[in-house]
Amino acid sequence: MPVVSIRSILDGQHTGKSVTIRGWIYRKRESKSIIFLVVRDASGIIQCTLKRGSPSWAVAEKLTVESSVKLDGDVKQDKRAPMGYEISVDHLSIIGLAETFPITKDKSEEFLRDVRHLWLRSQKMNRIMKVRSKVLKSTHDFFRKEGFFEVSPPMFISGACEGGATLFTLEYFGKNLYLTQSAQLYLEALIYSLEKVYCVAPSFRAEKSRTIRHLSEYWHVEPEWAFADMDDLMKLEENLVVHICNGTAENSRNEIERLGADLSKLESVKTPFPKITYKEALERLNSEGFEIEWGKDLGFNEEKALAEEIGGPFFVYAYPSQTKAFYCKTYRDNPDLVMSTDMLVPNIGEISTGGCREDDKEYLVRRMKDFGLNQEDYKWYTDLRRYGSVPHVGFGLGVERLLTWMLDLENIMDTIPFPRTVRRFYP
Ligand code: 4AD
Ligand code: MG
Repeated sequence: MPVVSIRSILDGQHTGKSVTIRGWIYRKRESKSIIFLVVRDASGIIQCTLKRGSPSWAVAEKLTVESSVKLDGDVKQDKRAPMGYEISVDHLSIIGLAETFPITKDKSEEFLRDVRHLWLRSQKMNRIMKVRSKVLKSTHDFFRKEGFFEVSPPMFISGACEGGATLFTLEYFGKNLYLTQSAQLYLEALIYSLEKVYCVAPSFRAEKSRTIRHLSEYWHVEPEWAFADMDDLMKLEENLVVHICNGTAENSRNEIERLGADLSKLESVKTPFPKITYKEALERLNSEGFEIEWGKDLGFNEEKALAEEIGGPFFVYAYPSQTKAFYCKTYRDNPDLVMSTDMLVPNIGEISTGGCREDDKEYLVRRMKDFGLNQEDYKWYTDLRRYGSVPHVGFGLGVERLLTWMLDLENIMDTIPFPRTVRRFYP
């Protein structure tokens, strides 16, 4: 008998037929005359029943929660069963008998993170990981469709992209190197060959802050695009987010609903996104009682307040030049501002940063001096402005921040299988 997925049974594809399934015991309940097993596989859960006297009764009696099993039986539709379908079991065999499973009801979030390797089996994590997979697929589909080449940047790097404060240092054959914070500088080198490139790769940040939006290892979606300007950049970015949100709402409807997230929010994301300047953002916030001086970066609270008012996602652009990284291009008619833009969403605030890169060697060198950077470390990067420099743009979008917002999760940690934060690196 062919092995079928539980999903295909719940979809009504095998009603009245005999099937084989493989999976794990999710729940077990036993009475004098009947044993109820709820079995889960990657695709779903289903109730299976055995009557006393059945040849597999003794095997079923031995079963513990999370034991792996293979079983066959007849599928019937039954309104009383939790998922509307049930299997009455003919044969049942144990693949791996489980010891007493440490996860029971009402464990703390902290405990569940300590046993993350086991908690990944939960329906909640199963659903989040499925949505994550769809979001990544959707991202790749989008960039391929737009003619971007996927490239593979290094993780060991010799110079910071986003400033020294969040750099992880490591010993590399007797020298000090860093873990990458962003692939951007390397992507910039690649546009001189491929024009449109992107990567989805880990980035590392030595973030001491324990917030709901910071990880020390996260996945970063980063495109870089030659001959493009701010307008092109914002269009690309909003199109990507719409593609991901609308597509995921369609493809992951079941998971999103069962996670209790807002499907209509994702369905209704559409272009164009609202766009306000940093100056306008400041005026809005200060009129609501904030006291932010011009030139100060927006923090979590400021971003949240703005996002609550505007709804999301939206762009803030034209930031004071000192609030953004050395590679940002200044407005030539107003050098106090850089062509940089953040995308913000409610509850999380910033989910991406991007903009125009300084493409003039003299301007770049001056900016690196202002930032106190060692010219030698960035010689290769400066070279890119010496041989056929072109205007170009790019952005970086945090996969986990996007997912936290999409699924209305309380903490970014649940969007990645094994979260790394200042305190958490096990398992
Ligand atoms: O704003 P950031 O630092 O910008 C850059 O790294 C640019 N070089 C990207 C580029 O232009 N190619 O990081 C970009 C995004 C943030 O907006 C946020 O979504 C995410 O990366 N991010 C983090 N996500 C989780 N935990 C952290 N500690 C993060 N730091 C940044
Ligand atoms: Mg940023």
